[in-house]
Amino acid sequence: MEKILIIDDDQSIRNTLTGYLKKQDYEVFSAADGLEGIELAKTELPDLVITDIRMPGADGFEVLKCIKEIDPHIHVIIITAFDDMHSTVKAMQQGAYDYIEKPLEIDKLKITIQRALENKKLSDELNSFVGEKTEEYELKNTLIGKTPQMKQVYKKIGQVSTSRVTVLIQGESGTGKELVARAIHYSGITKNHPFVAVNCTALTESLLESELFGHVKGAFTGSIRDKKGKFELAGEGTIFLDEISEVSPNLQVKLLRILQQKEFEKVGGENLIPMKARVIAATNKRLSELVKAGKFREDLYYRLKVFSIDIPPLRERIDDIPYLVSHFLNKINLELHKNVNKIPEDVTELLKNHFWIGNVRELENTLMQAVVLSSDDVLLKENILLRKTEQPSGADKHVSKVEYISLEDLDKRHIKNILDALKWDKNKAHKILGISLPTLYSKIEHYKLSPFEKEAD
Ligand SMILES: Nc1ncnc2c1ncn2[C@@H]1O[C@H](COP(=O)(O)OP(=O)(O)OP(=O)(O)O)[C@@H](O)[C@H]1O
Ligand SMILES: [Mg+2]
Repeated sequence: MEKILIIDDDQSIRNTLTGYLKKQDYEVFSAADGLEGIELAKTELPDLVITDIRMPGADGFEVLKCIKEIDPHIHVIIITAFDDMHSTVKAMQQGAYDYIEKPLEIDKLKITIQRALENKKLSDELNSFVGEKTEEYELKNTLIGKTPQMKQVYKKIGQVSTSRVTVLIQGESGTGKELVARAIHYSGITKNHPFVAVNCTALTESLLESELFGHVKGAFTGSIRDKKGKFELAGEGTIFLDEISEVSPNLQVKLLRILQQKEFEKVGGENLIPMKARVIAATNKRLSELVKAGKFREDLYYRLKVFSIDIPPLRERIDDIPYLVSHFLNKINLELHKNVNKIPEDVTELLKNHFWIGNVRELENTLMQAVVLSSDDVLLKENILLRKTEQPSGADKHVSKVEYISLEDLDKRHIKNILDALKWDKNKAHKILGISLPTLYSKIEHYKLSPFEKEAD
């Protein structure tokens, strides 16, 4: 029987919970304050602790800390007041499994408890298997962000990394879909196996097919030997199907079959090969809309969406921006041997107010440019070159704006914009543009650009 410890100074909550959980066949203990609760936890070693935050003696945070010291695998669920978002976030950051709000809703409570206990069982099983994360992993794959939206993403990563269910990750370009896929892979049961990424846009249909499933010798012209596909190479690890929306109808059928039957054939081959890898798919399009438009198979969509993670755009979690900025500055400084670490208030404001159509990737690139341009340790506003984006409004939100101009015109206009923004400092401009100084000079001449008059277009 699983043991649950309830800690709350409110007697009526203790009684209600105890009565209800006993009926559900759990062994229940309860304590009226934090210290008593901690003592009980030491002797009873519960599977789950449900604790209030505000209590005399030791509060919920203290309880959480002590429980995690007793055994980091005991899950702690926090009971919070509705207006107490701040402590909820803090509790989640300090390792609480989840939170439930007062007044308690029995159905929600039941599900949360079941999940917590299930998750503990799995993590107990995994315990011996999952080793320490390497430092390199931490550096390359750390997801930054403390907003509730990101906390939700972390929670989902935690939930799904202990099993092999198929995952669909959706989010705008640059929101960190691949990073999330890697986090799932490296934090769970797949971590000691390969992570194999396939970009579904990169190749023609037949090449993609052989890339995914492999081919046998002689399957088509030029196939002079057997080749393993990515599904096979992934072994018991993860196969990451990036830009899944781009897969042709034909391949969609094949993928569906693989997901259903857990086996596949090489191109031109006859033997069925078992598929052991976990599939994670990602897309920056709304698959449900493609399904509606008849461009993506509904059955495949549901197969992929067994567990789905939506990553919100950066502009919907602007409180993460300061953390991301300092994370990227560390990374960029290291790479460029610079030391830009002072961020004026108005720069933070500027970054928080930008629309970030390219999300975290755009932020990272903007900071990279700014560091290149910086001559001391201050991140100056004038070095932050923001992409001009018109905020899509209402109806045309999902329609990307197309400008019917030639590449040459675009080149000309872009160079002029950068030069103007930099007050015609050509030394800075050529670095930003990624071309040599002589090339910049020849382009200025070719396009007859000058700082004085407004370019006629
Ligand atoms: N939360 C985050 N914390 C730290 N770095 C992040 C975060 N999100 C994204 N990044 C960084 O931003 C860049 C873009 O992330 P990623 O490639 O995972 O995005 P994506 O959603 O796959 O984009 P696309 O749809 O364009 O393929 C990467 O350099 C990644 O390391
Ligand atoms: Mg990607």
